Amino acid sequence: MKSEILRLLKREEGYLSGQELCNRLQVSRTAIWKIMNQLKEEGYQIDSVSNRGYHLEKCPDIVTGEELESELEGRVFGHEVYYKEEMDSTNVQAKKLAEQGIANHGYLVTAEKQTNGKGRRGRSWSSPKGTGIWMSLVLKPDISPYNASMLTLVTALAVNRVIREQTGLESYIKWPNDIVVNGKKVCGILTEMSSELDYIHYVVIGIGINVNTKDFPEEISERATSLFIESHKTYKRSRIIEKIMEYLEFYYEQFTLNQDLRLLLTEYNQMLINIENKVVVQEKQTSFEGIAKGINEKGELLVQTEKGIRTVMSGEVSVR
Ligand code: BTN
Repeated sequence: MKSEILRLLKREEGYLSGQELCNRLQVSRTAIWKIMNQLKEEGYQIDSVSNRGYHLEKCPDIVTGEELESELEGRVFGHEVYYKEEMDSTNVQAKKLAEQGIANHGYLVTAEKQTNGKGRRGRSWSSPKGTGIWMSLVLKPDISPYNASMLTLVTALAVNRVIREQTGLESYIKWPNDIVVNGKKVCGILTEMSSELDYIHYVVIGIGINVNTKDFPEEISERATSLFIESHKTYKRSRIIEKIMEYLEFYYEQFTLNQDLRLLLTEYNQMLINIENKVVVQEKQTSFEGIAKGINEKGELLVQTEKGIRTVMSGEVSVR
């Protein structure tokens, strides 16, 4: 009900009377009054005037379920949000909820802080309180498990577009799924899956974005940056999340039509920082150099080497 009240307050330009809220939501005045107090405690600035009602003046920068749900009307992605101020990892939590049958397709998990944020290849992900977006989206796609890794590229495309539109920064995708601004990483994506050989139980797409971070621990400050550091502006994180859900849903639909990236290929390659650059591909045992030519429909990186084009399915790529 809290998200419903927020939604109504956000839509109303003037004052919304207590009586109207009671009628619409079929609850008592006391219940409305209690929720208004809770919202004020969370940082919402609500003006209440007797005989006129309530007016929402300002929303705080928080990523609670109610704040997000009140904006994500009519969408599948993010229509239901599980929020806790602190979690070990939103990916771990999302997997638990999917296993329990609670999290369905489009279910979103968010936190203000992660105590054990996970990065790719067993690395950790620094996730301090209140500065970034730490979220995981549960999907139950009807696709072959072999094609699921492309979802990471689809996500990178959506996040990159939102960063560009919301901040004006020239962000790019570093294959397969890092988002970089001025050569430093601003967003990482960790996709995990539970499947059988031919059937996906669920996919969890974990997205970490350094949004309003002012500084980083020394060991990562050479490689990491934030939207604030690059643009000297702070951003409302819920707005960025809403936009990501919107674009991700859109790109996801295009991806599932053919279970490949043919409809997204041109846009992805335009945003690829590696394109026409010398890259070093680190495989399990060896590494090789070449010029990145872009991705193919399967999301593999095409690298021109002296011996011809090589397709890279996974691995670490560094720009030379
Ligand atoms: C990477 O190594 O680049 C991937 C980083 C992914 C971090 C995000 S933050 C939200 C979600 N929960 C996690 O524990 N990890 C992902």
